[in-house]
Amino acid sequence: MRFAHVRWRGCGVVPNLHDFPAGFRWGVSTAAYQIEGAVGEDGRGPSVWDVFVGREGAVKGGHTGAVACDHYHRYREDVELMRELGVDGYRFSIAWPRVQPAGRGPVNQAGLGFYDRLVDELLAAGITPLPTLFHWDLPQALETPSNSGSAEGGGWLARDTAYRFAEYAGIMADRLGDRVPAWITLNEPFVHTVFGYALGVHAPGRALMLEALPTAHHQLLGHGLAAAALQERGLAVLITNNLTPVWAASDGPADVAAAQAYDALHNRLFTDPLLLGRYPDLAAFGVPDDLYGAVRPGDLDLIAGPRLAGLGVNYYNPTRIGAPTDPALPFTQLDIADVPHTAFGWPIVPDGLRQLLVGLKELYGAALPPITITENGCAVAEETVPDQPRIDYLAGHLDALAAALREGVDVRGYYTWSLLDNFEWAEGYHQRFGLVHVDFETQQRTPRASYGWYRELIARHRLLR
Ligand code: NOJ
Repeated sequence: MRFAHVRWRGCGVVPNLHDFPAGFRWGVSTAAYQIEGAVGEDGRGPSVWDVFVGREGAVKGGHTGAVACDHYHRYREDVELMRELGVDGYRFSIAWPRVQPAGRGPVNQAGLGFYDRLVDELLAAGITPLPTLFHWDLPQALETPSNSGSAEGGGWLARDTAYRFAEYAGIMADRLGDRVPAWITLNEPFVHTVFGYALGVHAPGRALMLEALPTAHHQLLGHGLAAAALQERGLAVLITNNLTPVWAASDGPADVAAAQAYDALHNRLFTDPLLLGRYPDLAAFGVPDDLYGAVRPGDLDLIAGPRLAGLGVNYYNPTRIGAPTDPALPFTQLDIADVPHTAFGWPIVPDGLRQLLVGLKELYGAALPPITITENGCAVAEETVPDQPRIDYLAGHLDALAAALREGVDVRGYYTWSLLDNFEWAEGYHQRFGLVHVDFETQQRTPRASYGWYRELIARHRLLR
């Protein structure tokens, strides 16, 4: 394999690898619907994303994940790319509809077989598998209200989905638990709740605004029940959320109160119940304490009960918040215009990662489990190599992570998003996050400059330790 030229010292920032302890795990992240393709093969059932992509205008260019990176057939080549890269770990997700095509009941052995083969291939390459059980591709059969047994609607609006999720977690743990020591239950419940159920820009495309909040609770309940099933089998449990440091637009009380309200919704709605056993105060939103009847006695014990082996943090950017301008919400989201932006238009603020991590430590203290950065990366405009802006992005964020480590935050690993260019949800294939370029016509993989850079960083760290 040929590697692109590495400008190790050419970028603005060089993270000090001495700050990363021995045993710090370097990795890459992907997700099933974004890379696997093969949506109709070997008995896989449809997911909410297979249906959502068929809606007129739902995804840019009418793109779908039907083929994506064809990873289902090319996983050996992709594991080889990771072996060459030298990563310790690979975070991927399991497609629930491959395993239980109807989301409940019969198990599809052919679907399980794929993850068996993938895990064995990873282990043979010396890479620890870190699976996520739910990365947004719910079996469509659970979305259909008549099948969910719920009057209010299906998917995560139905409490029953939490129980189905725990059953599926048990199936996966029984099959792979002998080779996979640690598991992530959910990916970014905040984004799934807001994009999928409040705004309708992701599957399943419901636009319920604040009335989407029961889905947040049911996801957390599903996490708690699944975590118990995993722990009964001696496995370690993590959960990943998208977290953001919230910047108030000014020190004025109206801006500060708005920032606190936003922080409660985006960050604390998920971490408070997990780590403190209670929901944050959402009074500013006029939301009832029981999240519209979703929270039942005993639920918070189920959510906070299973001790987390780690908290997965996906960090992309901070959020600037000012006093409300729309009577429906207690905040206004403002642009962060005074910094560079990624090709996706997201502000690039590496120090936001340090702020976020130090803030978590200050807020939760001894209740905070060790952290793993389960996603961080950027979309870059360049089609192939060289992708210097991505190297600069990664270097800057690793420098900020090093600063957080120096400030005493216990961070155990860093998994960059993503190994491959892939199906970027509502953006289709228009946003490219990969260390490896994918030509979606030919499925040819071409490692970018950032791949060579990350490879050298991992090798250098290994030499130091
Ligand atoms: C977070 C999501 O988990 C992942 O699926 C997505 O592709 C990246 N962010 C980039 O938007």
